[in-house]
Amino acid sequence: MKIALLYVASVDGKITKWGNSPSIWASEEDAKHFHAILDKSKLIVMGSKSFKPTVSKPIPGVRRIVLTRTPQKYTEFAVPSQLEFTSESPEVLVERLEKEGFKEMLLVSGTRVTSEFFKKHLVDELWLTIEPKLFGSGNGLITDEQFDISLKLMDVKQLNNQGTLLLQYKVQK
Ligand SMILES: NC(=O)c1ccc[n+]([C@@H]2O[C@H](COP(=O)([O-])OP(=O)(O)OC[C@H]3O[C@@H](n4cnc5c(N)ncnc54)[C@H](OP(=O)(O)O)[C@@H]3O)[C@@H](O)[C@H]2O)c1
Repeated sequence: MKIALLYVASVDGKITKWGNSPSIWASEEDAKHFHAILDKSKLIVMGSKSFKPTVSKPIPGVRRIVLTRTPQKYTEFAVPSQLEFTSESPEVLVERLEKEGFKEMLLVSGTRVTSEFFKKHLVDELWLTIEPKLFGSGNGLITDEQFDISLKLMDVKQLNNQGTLLLQYKVQK
């Protein structure tokens, strides 16, 4: 399974601005890039704080998986083969989906879920948008633990005059 992570962060490495999600502070150009990738993905994995029932509606032909320690809280939203809530570990989840025939996964997770995937060396690609902003406080790209992950820059694009950068990295394994 090829797993790509999609992230937008401030220059000081924050993926939330004082608790607010990117829909509030990321550039229009990043939002366009985010939706273009999302719209092409057939398998999307996120953390429960990113799940919004009014926005994350089930789409036929797309499998969306929300990681939560309490999937039972979300049974009213679950739709078989379209919207699923699970407390499986990343490696168990990936193995199950590979057996179902999926070859690509898009991670739109935040700090915690992303870190769990990195710990298991499951991330292959990172698409990181850097917004020219400093927030000081907010969630980091990964948790405050010891990681030693090397990335190789594959591509870089400037998305607007303000200087929003889109960096495409391969994770070295
Ligand atoms: N800037 C960006 O690119 C970006 C990307 C993604 C998210 N965000 C922002 O980050 C914030 C958090 O989003 P998120 O929920 O996607 O972040 P997350 O940190 O990946 O996930 C947090 C939630 O996922 C569940 N979780 C974490 N580890 C788990 C595990 N090992 N097994 C099962 N469930 C686990 C927990 O849900 P329960 O509490 O339900 O157990 C936890 O509250 C939001 O404000 C979001 O907008 C920003």
